[in-house]
Amino acid sequence: MDLHGRNLLKEIDLTREEFLYLVSLGDQLRRAKQLGLAEHRLSGRNIALIFEKASTRTRSAFEVAAHDEGGHVTYIGPGDSHLGDTESVQDTARVLGRMFDGIEYRGFAQESVEILGAHAGVPVWNGLTDEWHPTQMLADVLTMRDHAGKPLHDVTFCYLGDGRNNTANSLLVTGALVGMDARICAPADLQPSAKVQTIARGLAAGSGAKLTVTDDLDAAVHGADFLYTDVWLSMGEPADQWDSRIDHLIGYQVNAKVMAATGNPDVKFMHCLPALHNTQTEVGRRIYARRGLEALEVTDEVFESAQSIVFDQAANRMPTIKAVMVATIGITP
Ligand code: CP
Ligand code: NVA
Repeated sequence: MDLHGRNLLKEIDLTREEFLYLVSLGDQLRRAKQLGLAEHRLSGRNIALIFEKASTRTRSAFEVAAHDEGGHVTYIGPGDSHLGDTESVQDTARVLGRMFDGIEYRGFAQESVEILGAHAGVPVWNGLTDEWHPTQMLADVLTMRDHAGKPLHDVTFCYLGDGRNNTANSLLVTGALVGMDARICAPADLQPSAKVQTIARGLAAGSGAKLTVTDDLDAAVHGADFLYTDVWLSMGEPADQWDSRIDHLIGYQVNAKVMAATGNPDVKFMHCLPALHNTQTEVGRRIYARRGLEALEVTDEVFESAQSIVFDQAANRMPTIKAVMVATIGITP
């Protein structure tokens, strides 16, 4: 499999085989590090990390992965460069592409990462936009592979919550690409757009995936191997929408009753994180003060339970992101 020179702007940039190759390479690189066998496959490589939104996992994963493999990173945070202010994305791409060997971009419009990818002349990787979160999907599929105990095409997952955010879009399309039983459970006005559903259904026709988009919670979660949720208000959405979002989504909270409704005693809980599951955060405390809710998209009971695999999932961001960089800009032996 040769992915050298390729972009990762969204899941559908990859074939099913290419996607699963990156997941397997992530697994191999994870094992190599555990065994102390890490090589310097990014030696001499310079990597730009552009973040127009906050990040804990994605930034850390790119930095640690690059350092493990002998690469160098330059972090360009919100407001650190001229990007978007006095310099267009296209001009920025042509400058950074002449200095760096690879560019990660986290921002708002998918169009920005597409323009970067078209003009940089070096691989560009999407570290999350409003539309897609492809590096998250590599970690998520590796995590499902680790925990499912059966082939991926026999795996059923159900995402509950804001069904038209980046994570939900990416999960539906990834389930379709890989050939899983992928379900999105959300109220009608928070379901994936017709565009995203059309992409997913086109992929499912080729992979044998089974796709469901519904507001019927009991039907959606029944028989699931994994329940997945994400924050109800994503980065960049106005904070004054919290109340209406809570009103819409409170019935889709992942709690012990919803876990039990799967009928699967082995069901696992997943979340890309960060999660609002208690009042230990600023936002969590503010919402508790106004609405009296101690938890939003997932209860603390489920988040802290033995069924929760969220920190395995977070750990898998690093080796899978390493796989993306090694495959696209790494030194080939
Ligand atoms: N899941 C995820 O992308 O986390 P960060 O926002 O911390 O990068
Ligand atoms: N949907 C969330 C994902 C965070 C990793 C957001 O965009 O804020």
